[in-house]
Formats: sequence, C-alpha cells, structure tokens
Amino acid sequence: MEFSYKLFISVLLLLLPVASFSTHNSSVYQLVCNKNFTNDNKILQINIKNTISSLVAQTFNNNTYAISSYGIGYDTIYGLIQCRGDSSNESCSSCVNNAVHQIRTFCPYSAESRIWYPFCFLRYDNYNFFGQADSSYTRVWPSALTAQNTETFNSALGWVLDAAMGSAVGKDVKIGMTIDYEENSNRTLYGIAQCTRDLDDSGCSYCLEKALEVMSNDCKNHLGCHLISNCCMFRYEIYNLFLEAESPNTGAAVSALLSNGYLN
Ligand SMILES: *[C@@H]1O[C@H](CO)[C@@H](O)[C@H](O)[C@H]1NC(C)=O
Ligand SMILES: *[C@@H]1O[C@H](CO)[C@@H](O)[C@H](O)[C@H]1NC(C)=O
Ligand SMILES: *[C@@H]1O[C@H](CO)[C@@H](O)[C@H](O)[C@H]1NC(C)=O
Ligand SMILES: *[C@@H]1O[C@H](CO)[C@@H](O)[C@H](O)[C@H]1NC(C)=O
Ligand SMILES: *[C@@H]1O[C@H](CO)[C@@H](O)[C@H](O)[C@H]1NC(C)=O
Repeated sequence: MEFSYKLFISVLLLLLPVASFSTHNSSVYQLVCNKNFTNDNKILQINIKNTISSLVAQTFNNNTYAISSYGIGYDTIYGLIQCRGDSSNESCSSCVNNAVHQIRTFCPYSAESRIWYPFCFLRYDNYNFFGQADSSYTRVWPSALTAQNTETFNSALGWVLDAAMGSAVGKDVKIGMTIDYEENSNRTLYGIAQCTRDLDDSGCSYCLEKALEVMSNDCKNHLGCHLISNCCMFRYEIYNLFLEAESPNTGAAVSALLSNGYLN
C-alpha cells in the first residue's frame, strides 16, 4: 500500500512540471504542409523565402502581427504571422524564430504551410487569403480534467467565453481576455479569444462563433480547452494563462491590461 502511494505521488511529481512546462515551452501544436512542389521550382522557393523574411523583419521590429506578399502572378506567395496579442517583443521574436525554423525544416517544398505554436501562428499560401474568415481547418485540445459541478462551471464559463469574444471583436488587436470567478468551486476562469488581425469585425465574429460551436461540443465540461483555426484561437483555463502571469506583479499586469483595453 505504502509503495503504491509513493509511486502515485512520484508519478504526479513527474507529470506536473511537464504539464505546466508545455504551456510555456514552444513545442509544436500543429504543422500543415500542402501544395508540395519539386526542388526545381526556384521561383516559388525565392518567393517563400522573401515573404518569410519580410514577416520576420516586421516582428523583430516590435510588431506582433505582419502580412506580406512576394512575387508576380501565379507564383505569388502571401504570408501572415501573428503572436498572441499579449506577448512582448522578446517572446514574440523567439516564437517566430522557432516557427520559421520548423516550417523551413519540415515544409521546404510546400506552397501552403501553417504552423501553430501556443503563442504564435505563421501561415503562407499561393493565394490571397488576407481578410478571409476561413474556419475550415480547426483543432481542439480539451484538458484532461472535467468539472464536477457542471452547472456553476458552465455558467461561469459561458460568461467568460462570451465576454472574451465580445472584447476581441471591434478591437484592432483582435484579442479579448477575460476572467470570471466561480464561487461554488472557488475557482477563477481565464479566457482568451483572438482573431488574426487581417480580419474585419464581422470576419472575426464569424470565426469565433464557429469556434464556440466546436468548443461547446468538444470541450463540454472540460476545465480547460484550446482551439486553433486558420482565422482565430480560443482558449480557457482555470489558471492564469495570460502571458503577464510570468510577471511577478500580477496586480500591476492586470491593471496594465485593463488600461490597454485588453480586459473587459
Ligand atoms: C520544448 O519541448 C520539446 C519537446 O518536449 C523539446 O525538445 C524542446 O527542447 C523544448 N524547447 C524548449 C525551448 O525548452
Ligand atoms: C508535403 O511535404 C511534407 C514534407 O516534405 C509532407 O510532410 C507532407 O505530407 C506533404 N504533403 C502532401 C499533401 O503530400
Ligand atoms: C514596442 O511596442 C510596445 C507596444 O506597442 C510599446 O509599448 C513599446 O514602447 C515598443 N518598444 C519599442 C522599443 O519600440
Ligand atoms: C525584438 O526582439 C528581438 C529578439 O530578441 C531583438 O533582436 C530586437 O532588437 C527587438 N526589437 C525591439 C524593437 O526591441
Ligand atoms: C479559495 O482559493 C484560494 C486560492 O487558491 C485559497 O487561498 C482560499 O483559501 C480558498 N477559499 C476557500 C473558501 O476555499
């Protein structure tokens, strides 16, 4: 008995750092490579390289969002890069670095590539997708734990998700971050909704509504969930998932978010 108890505890201890690390580690969430071409298509290779270089230059210049295109006619490549709206220049640059490295390594001959990290998204394609709310590709990761008192949980969660969505739509930065407290379980819920910034308000709203439809099914009663698509991301957790959580002074970070209009 004692042995198995100890084993259980050490398994827990082994698991915990991995679980919390993975949210801040830049491990790949999802990589898609399509429209593969052959090595002898030098024009496409140059256009991809130049589009990516321009995106990277913009993010290194303190932008958390950039679009760019390069080439003429059918060989034109259109690219978009976006970090989560609450990331600093340093965390954005480092995420972009990893994303570019992965996409160059694993999709060298793809005219359509997309990579999602927890804190950034890089996409390029050979058609002009700017401004299109395309939710055809969606992936969802529900957390392992589920709520016991589903009624109070879902009521608090519903408020968080609606508020995050409402707050994202209508802002240039297209990010909404909200918090709600579930009194019964003494739990705080944190939610983030973010659209790609090439979308207008109705595109953003469409993308997040589609995301909510998927989440209401796939995330049902789960204490955390993360959705990605081509046009937006949606995530909620029962811990502070805002990047400012890394700051020692959470109170100041939250008031900074409030004054930025990030939190409603
Ligand atoms: C992230 O996790 C992956 C796989 O677990 C690991 O190979 C990589 O070194 C980690 N990256 C960082 C920056 O720690
Ligand atoms: C394209 O190439 C990548 C990497 O070389 C490969 O992983 C992927 O499956 C290919 N995609 C298609 C649709 O063949
Ligand atoms: C980077 O951007 C942030 C947010 O827009 C701004 O507060 C900061 O002053 C900028 N830093 C530099 C070095 O431009
Ligand atoms: C942003 O971060 C990158 C990488 O850390 C750095 O090279 C660049 O100078 C920074 N840019 C600004 C404007 O601070
Ligand atoms: C609620 O949670 C906080 C932080 O986890 C804890 O300090 C506090 O004691 C809890 N209150 C109750 C009534 O359980």
